[in-house]
Amino acid sequence: MIRVLSLFILVGALVGCKSVAPPTPLGDLNAQQMHGHAVYEAHCAQCHYDRKNAALHGPAMIGVFKKPYLSSGAPANDERVTATIVHGRNLMPAMGNTLDQQDLDDLLAYLHTL
Ligand code: HEC
Repeated sequence: MIRVLSLFILVGALVGCKSVAPPTPLGDLNAQQMHGHAVYEAHCAQCHYDRKNAALHGPAMIGVFKKPYLSSGAPANDERVTATIVHGRNLMPAMGNTLDQQDLDDLLAYLHTL
C-alpha cells in the first residue's frame, strides 16, 4: 500500500515538472530572438542563468514568462521586466542608457523563448 502511494507521489511530481515547457533550443530561434540572445549574453548572463534553474547574482530567467510572478512577486509581464531592465532593481544596475529600443524588443523576444 505504501509502495503504491509513493508511486503515485513520484508520478505526480514528474508530471508536475513537465507542465512547464522547456526553453526553445538555440538552434530554433528566429533572427530577432537570436539578436536578443546576443544582447542577453552581453548584458545579463553574468548575473542570471537563462537555461538553468539556479540563482547566480540574480534569479534564474528560465521560464520567466511561463510563471505568473517574478521573484519579487511583481507580475511577470513585458512592462515589469522592461522596467526592471531600464531602471534596475536593488543590486541590478539600470540599463536604460546602454540598450536601445531595438535591443530591448529583441531581448524581450528572447526571454519569451525561455
Ligand atoms: C550585475 C548583475 C545583474 C545584471 C547584469 C542583470 N541583473 Fe537582473 N537582477 C540582478 C539581481 C541582483 C536581481 C534581484 C533584485 C532584487 O529583487 O533584489 C535581479 C533581478 C532581475 C529580475 C527580477 C525582477 C523582479 O521583480 O523580481 C529580472 C526580470 C531581471 N533581473 C532581468 C535581467 C535582464 C533581462 C538583464 C540583462 C539586460 C539583467 N537582469 C541584468 C542582477 C543583475
